Amino acid sequence: MTKISFSINLVILSGLLFVSCKSKLPETTEKNKTGEVAEKAMLVSARREASKIGVDIMKKGGNAFDAMVATEMALAVSYPFAGNLGGGGFMVYRTADGNTGSLDYREKAPLAASKNMYLDENGEVIEGKSTLGAMASGVPGTIAGIFKVHEKFGSLPIQEIVQPVIELAEKGVIVTQKQQERLQKYRDVLLQVNQDMTLYTKAYKKGDTIKNIALAHTLKRIVANGRSEFYAGETGKKMLEFLKQRGGILTEEDLLKYEAKWRDPIRIPYKEYQIISMPPPSSGGIVLGQILKMIEPYPLAGYQPNSAKYIQVLTEAERRAYADRSFYLGDSDFYDVPQDSLLADAYLSDRMSDFSFEQATPSSTITHGTISGYESNETTHYSIVDAMGNAVSVTTTLNGAYGSKLYIPELGFFMNNEMNDFSLKPGVPNMFGLVGAEANAIEPEKRMLSSMTPTIIEKNGKLWMVVGSPGGSTIITSVLQTFLNVAEFDLSMQESVSAKRFHHQWLPDEIMMEPEGFAKETIQELQQKGYKINQKESRIIGKVDAIKVLPNGNLEGGADPRGDDTAIGF
Ligand code: GLY
Repeated sequence: MTKISFSINLVILSGLLFVSCKSKLPETTEKNKTGEVAEKAMLVSARREASKIGVDIMKKGGNAFDAMVATEMALAVSYPFAGNLGGGGFMVYRTADGNTGSLDYREKAPLAASKNMYLDENGEVIEGKSTLGAMASGVPGTIAGIFKVHEKFGSLPIQEIVQPVIELAEKGVIVTQKQQERLQKYRDVLLQVNQDMTLYTKAYKKGDTIKNIALAHTLKRIVANGRSEFYAGETGKKMLEFLKQRGGILTEEDLLKYEAKWRDPIRIPYKEYQIISMPPPSSGGIVLGQILKMIEPYPLAGYQPNSAKYIQVLTEAERRAYADRSFYLGDSDFYDVPQDSLLADAYLSDRMSDFSFEQATPSSTITHGTISGYESNETTHYSIVDAMGNAVSVTTTLNGAYGSKLYIPELGFFMNNEMNDFSLKPGVPNMFGLVGAEANAIEPEKRMLSSMTPTIIEKNGKLWMVVGSPGGSTIITSVLQTFLNVAEFDLSMQESVSAKRFHHQWLPDEIMMEPEGFAKETIQELQQKGYKINQKESRIIGKVDAIKVLPNGNLEGGADPRGDDTAIGF
């Protein structure tokens, strides 16, 4: 008997022993049985204001795509931490008649970008250059994205869709406790980068109102002049001038050449489910698919959620998938991503063949390369289902919190620091390391590799779940656990979103866990088997906003209690 079949037999046996015990959340896991339930439509996003604006558009007869345009813009007003005009994102959709697709409005490297642009004369990464200020920004894609969506699927005029967002910017957004804390945490660096007091560097308290009149004006011009207002008009010119004065390299040609792109989504079969997710330049769909295929042979439903065995299986699959991510994934317009090979059943079953429940597999024994710790986690996700049955899953980002921290006062928005998602120092000399570094090395007009995983899941051919998360590299594992919590453990959408999460990404070789969410005995058991546990790195892992279609056709929203996230339906 091979090691793998012996291990799987052991797993099946222990699974059978558990089968009569109903899966339940560990004592320490936050419980909130069922989320918002509605009959027709549902929208879950990071802010109540944005969810309401998107839902109101659907109440007026707009579809999920109209609501996407409204929500994307409303998040730029109400959640400037990640909502944006100066960033980019991805959308996965499924129309009511079952057609699926995805839109890539990811930022691109400027034409003047080069492979070593963030290295000093000794070849070392210059601290802050790819994260703070004008040099950190890729060419923004968000405005191109919303117009592309509207052109193909929109049913209401853009003026009608964006008007409530303009009114929100003028009327103002009420500061929440969490927003007060975020603004306080980043105030020093915002002041340092902007060298001036700006709208978001004032000392706000919970209950204060932030009006963004400059953003209202920008949105009015965009409504009046369309997409070209941003890529060839006054707004674009002002943005370029602002960046140029601060050492930026974006040019008029960069803006003129920017295009959002429709792409074929990744489709992953898992039991009776079809997972539809984002292809490159996101790593999300491929890595999620690799993990799911590696764990599918194990009887997960027989384990308790967040038990040692469950954590082991997911961790070992994650370790192997993230090692591949580091080597093979990048913008497929520039690099031949071996998508089919990476998702091949035989390959993935072989990848898990050295896993044993007895002992952790050290990451050093898995193909290795260099990655620099955890990625930043300041994206935002929203999920929409409309009354016709169209579904939209969108993750949008500035990359870091408030992006490059550079705020353009005259236009009312922050610029991204997405250039930091490239591999800044490529060429690690080993068989796979060089390939991986090249895959995501900086090149003019290339899109930087992402982990964003907007996902739609069908069950037996019907719409079943819309899901996604912010969280940098933890996005993929957050989406994975949210899906498994419902598919394998039968939790409600809200319970699944609220449940504590863990994450492994090959390097560093440790399981990151949310504090106080896991039983002491589980942690001890894992440690005895050689797993390093890190509960300090992150207070939260992911911030999932999801919708599940219930058996009676109603929609259940799962809004993440880790943020101000809100599900609204009707
Ligand atoms: N900027 C985070 C991501 O795209 O994964």
